Amino acid sequence: MIDFILPLFGRFHPILVHLPIGILAFGIILVFLSKKGSTQYLESIRLAFLLGGVAAVFSSISGFLQYQNEGFSWDTVQFHLIFGWATVLASFWLYYEAKKSTSFPEKFKLKSSGLFALMLFTGHLGGNITHGEEYLIEVLPPELQSLLGFEKEPEKGLVLPEQGWEQLAYYDQVIQPIINQNCKSCHNPKNLKGELDLTSYEALIKGGEDGSILTSGNADQSALYSRLILPKDDEDHMPPKEKRQPEKEAIELIKAWVELGGNTSSKLGDANIKMEILEPFFHRMEKPFYPEISVEKVSDESMAQLKSEGFFAELTSENSNWLTVSCINFQDFKDQNWTLLNPIKNQLVYLDLSGTQITDQILDSLQTLPNLTVLKLNRTAISGSKLEGLNSLKHLKHLYINKTQIETDGIKSLDNHPSLEKVFAYDTPISEAEMKENFSFYLEIGNYKLPALPTDTIEY
Ligand code: HEC
Repeated sequence: MIDFILPLFGRFHPILVHLPIGILAFGIILVFLSKKGSTQYLESIRLAFLLGGVAAVFSSISGFLQYQNEGFSWDTVQFHLIFGWATVLASFWLYYEAKKSTSFPEKFKLKSSGLFALMLFTGHLGGNITHGEEYLIEVLPPELQSLLGFEKEPEKGLVLPEQGWEQLAYYDQVIQPIINQNCKSCHNPKNLKGELDLTSYEALIKGGEDGSILTSGNADQSALYSRLILPKDDEDHMPPKEKRQPEKEAIELIKAWVELGGNTSSKLGDANIKMEILEPFFHRMEKPFYPEISVEKVSDESMAQLKSEGFFAELTSENSNWLTVSCINFQDFKDQNWTLLNPIKNQLVYLDLSGTQITDQILDSLQTLPNLTVLKLNRTAISGSKLEGLNSLKHLKHLYINKTQIETDGIKSLDNHPSLEKVFAYDTPISEAEMKENFSFYLEIGNYKLPALPTDTIEY
């Protein structure tokens, strides 16, 4: 019946810790306010160190209970706990010193500073446990972070080779990298959120506090997948909504793996996965993908203007000024609408005009985008006769012309393009035979005949 008392007390730890901090800080301030020879504050200082010590005992006990009941590992808490008790001892020792003498004990300021440092450090270790070790570092400017030696390599996530991806071990080389990038920060032996460790297959099979998270062959019954597709606002949605979300293609790969059996023996090629799902993971550049040039940030007004015109527009990443613009909700976009994009010409690196009403005329306008790197013209009436114009785009790397009527001659004009790396041309008159033409870029025409998946209606 009263089993709940201890865990409940444990949960008060985050509140209780502030008591010793406040009380001891007050005592330490009085030590520093005391003029030489004056014992004016001595009585209050004694009281502060005594009460601070007692409060520190309570917060240490509650902390220990929280550790016992909330699934923290010893590795994570050990130093916080040791320094917590050291703070307790130091407070009582200073109290004792102040108590036994009628004037200020020797080097009392120095000793009080030591207590202050101890308390601060303990608090900091505690903060690291709740907020993560990068909590304070994260907000520093990048230069300062690297100066402090905190330049951590972000998890790269999944990268697939263009040749031989079929042979990859589905779990080890596909699923685990996806998990490492999206889940590992909270589900590892040191940080066992939901009592779930996702750093190895064995641990994944063990499941979390609610038991197994994988039902072989049934993705919907597997929390590993089903939690990812819950609405973002659902409190069970994974990863928590304020964190990085896996790409929908990554989620599809997890689903296909579970449906295939969810084991460590299958190969990526065993699942009938559509190329469109794999495509985002091919060819991730070592060097920055977008031009290494700095451009001014587009003003908030221009962004708002674009969105109100019907474009989807966002920064390519938080700390860059490059823009991604798509007409996914602006399918009426016509050649004449081009002028709407003029204000952001320099920042535009990723433009998706798929499914719009554009004609070959647009290619003249496209040449005025100096930094364009990715261009999508899928499902449009572009014929290819003017594709040559794209040769003036010195940063263009990926061109998508899926489901257009463009023929081999059209793309031939792009051979020896200065930067073009890849052309995606599924469902075009370009035939397999032409794959053998050696272009300066990689031509992807999707000669993989794959059965239709329910996801076929999703536009990637
Ligand atoms: C920012 C931290 C965080 C990240 C990142 C995160 N999770 Fe979680 N996860 C939690 C927390 C907290 C819980 C426990 C609360 C709950 O059950 O919702 C949890 C619980 C779970 C559970 C339920 C475990 C059980 O048995 O109760 C599953 C399954 C899960 N997460 C899967 C994932 C997957 C898969 C990813 C990556 C795609 C992920 N999580 C990323 C914080 C995170």
